[in-house]
Amino acid sequence: MDVGLLHPGEMGAAVGRCLCEAGHKVLWASAGRGEATATRARDAGLTDAGSVAAISARVPIVLSICPPHAALDIAREVAGCGFRGLFVDANAIAPATARSVGAVIVDAGGTFADGGIIGPPPVPASPGHTRLYLSGDQAATIGGLFTGTAVDARTMPGDAGAASAVKMSYAAWTKGTAALLLAIRALARAEGVEDALLAEWALSQPSLPARSEQAARSAAAKGWRWIAEMDEIAASMAADDLPGGFHQAAADIYRRSATSVRPDLDTVLAALPHRAARHG
Ligand SMILES: NC(=O)c1ccc[n+]([C@@H]2O[C@H](COP(=O)([O-])OP(=O)(O)OC[C@H]3O[C@@H](n4cnc5c(N)ncnc54)[C@H](OP(=O)(O)O)[C@@H]3O)[C@@H](O)[C@H]2O)c1
Repeated sequence: MDVGLLHPGEMGAAVGRCLCEAGHKVLWASAGRGEATATRARDAGLTDAGSVAAISARVPIVLSICPPHAALDIAREVAGCGFRGLFVDANAIAPATARSVGAVIVDAGGTFADGGIIGPPPVPASPGHTRLYLSGDQAATIGGLFTGTAVDARTMPGDAGAASAVKMSYAAWTKGTAALLLAIRALARAEGVEDALLAEWALSQPSLPARSEQAARSAAAKGWRWIAEMDEIAASMAADDLPGGFHQAAADIYRRSATSVRPDLDTVLAALPHRAARHG
């Protein structure tokens, strides 16, 4: 099977490599992408088709794995190229956003499967760590592509939107609590009580010092991509009449962390207080 992959980032390239190792030909589009993406694609054994238009004309299946803020734009671009095949969105987006992506594709004459990836980029030599949740009428077709690979594809009951809902619920905890820890540690530091908090954590919450340091490293490296993911989680909550404020605040923490020049805890915590915001 020929499969298009937009675009080979850290996760997309690893998923593409799994598909190649399962015997599929995976096409990517170098137009508009940077050198790091080209290197990842080459290393993963993907074939450069040049442009999104070329991919849309050549493959029956397109897999969208990109930063969440780009998911709708990529679907529009593919639909605008006349794609009539099966489009899979495997991004960290709200169920409603996934349904909007599906509508763009279906309105243009294609079919749609919803996806959500949980776990680190898959490594063929070490399977069992990466799940690809899939929902919608076409979910089983996509699941079949990954048979025998390091991607554990799980077809879910429910319509398009269900797989995204799993991803949103999962990331609401992992990335939401990571942002909360950073905010808490910045508060304790601003109030001059960080040592007391760390001493109390050592007694009663011994995992939190290391977790907050890991949160700082992740926020500095990937926070730029998690801003939109937190916004999507906030929108997911609001769509079900739940408060979106937790994850709007988490988006703000990642927005601020993304300005951090170094990935260590001190630099990230220094980037968090915004005096201008306090005075309105
Ligand atoms: N990485 C993980 O561990 C992980 C885990 C679970 C789920 N996921 C999901 O996988 C998806 C992609 O994550 P990733 O880690 O692969 O991201 P990534 O490493 O940041 O790569 C993003 C890719 O998309 C391209 N891109 C960036 N901005 C774009 C834009 N505005 N329009 C079109 N393409 C754009 C980048 O190309 P250029 O930089 O060359 O422009 C790059 O090839 C996300 O939805 C994420 O939630 C990732």
